[in-house]
Amino acid sequence: MLEEITATRYVTPLREGGSLPGVVEADDLGTYVVKFRGAGQGRRVLVAEIISAELARRLGFRTPELKVIEVDPQLGAREPDEEIQDLLKASEGHNLAVDFLPGALGFEPLAWPPDPGLASRLLWFDALIHNVDRSWRNPNLLLWHGDIWLIDHGAALWFHHNWPTADPQRGFDAGDHVLAPFATRMAEADAGLSEMITRDFLDGIVDEVPDEWLEDEPGFDGAQAVRQAYVEHLLARAQGPRAWLPDPSAAPRQERKTGSVGAFWKDSR
Ligand SMILES: Nc1ncnc2c1ncn2[C@@H]1O[C@H](COP(=O)(O)OP(=O)(O)O)[C@@H](O)[C@H]1O
Ligand SMILES: [Mg+2]
Repeated sequence: MLEEITATRYVTPLREGGSLPGVVEADDLGTYVVKFRGAGQGRRVLVAEIISAELARRLGFRTPELKVIEVDPQLGAREPDEEIQDLLKASEGHNLAVDFLPGALGFEPLAWPPDPGLASRLLWFDALIHNVDRSWRNPNLLLWHGDIWLIDHGAALWFHHNWPTADPQRGFDAGDHVLAPFATRMAEADAGLSEMITRDFLDGIVDEVPDEWLEDEPGFDGAQAVRQAYVEHLLARAQGPRAWLPDPSAAPRQERKTGSVGAFWKDSR
C-alpha cells in the first residue's frame, strides 16, 4: 500500500491540464502535485493514476513516487479562487500525491528526439493501458535530470467508466501519440514487455490501490473483485492476440489534428 502523509500548505494550482491539480507541501517536508478526488471524474481517475504509474515503474519507466495524502479543506481558506475552495471541499480526506519534480521541463520531441527503443516501449505501454493522453499537443512527459518521466495517467484505463463494455481487445489509435514517429521497434518492445506481465506482477500492482477508492463499484462485490477485474483485463490484453497493438511504421502518419484526443474526457464534463 502507498505511504500516507498529511498536507500542510496549499502552494499553488497547476492550470495546464484540465483537472486543476495543486502543488502542496506535506508533513514529511516533501512537495507534491496533488490530484484531487473531488475533481471531474472522481476517484476512478486516481485509481487509473496508481495502477498505470506502478505498472510503468515496474516495467522500467521513470515516474514520480505516489503517496496518499490527507487534505483538510481549511488549507484553501485563503485561496481567492472559489473553484479551488470548492475542489478542496469536495476532496476532504484522502487524495493522491505525486512527488513534485522541481525544474522539470515539458518534453518536446523536436528538441529532444527520443531513443527508438524507449519510444516503442512507451507506445506499447500506452496502448496496453488505453492511454489517450500522450498526444503531441499534451504529451504528459517531463524532462528531468536528462531523462523522460511519465506523468498524468488519469485518462488511462478508461474502460472502468463503463465496466460492462470493457474490451481487452479494443484497438489503440496511435495517430496522435507524441512518440509514434520514433516507435520503430514495436516487435522488440512487445516481446520484452509482454512477458513481464503475469498475474503475480499485476496482483502486486493493484494491491497498491486503497480499498476506499474501489469500494461500492456498481456490479462488483467489494474492492478485491474490482482489483481482480483490472488484473483479468490487463492479463487478457497482454497475453492474448495482438489486434490492439498499433504498428506506426505500417500506416502513414496522420495529419496533426487541431484537438488532442486526450482532451475528450475533460471536454465532456
Ligand atoms: N510530478 C510533477 N512534477 C512537476 N510538474 C508536474 C508534475 N505533475 C504535473 N506537473 C505539471 O502540472 C501539469 C498538470 O499536471 P497533470 O498531472 O498533467 O494534470 P492534468 O490532469 O490537469 O493534465 C503538467 O502538465 C506538468 O506541467
Ligand atoms: Mg496533463
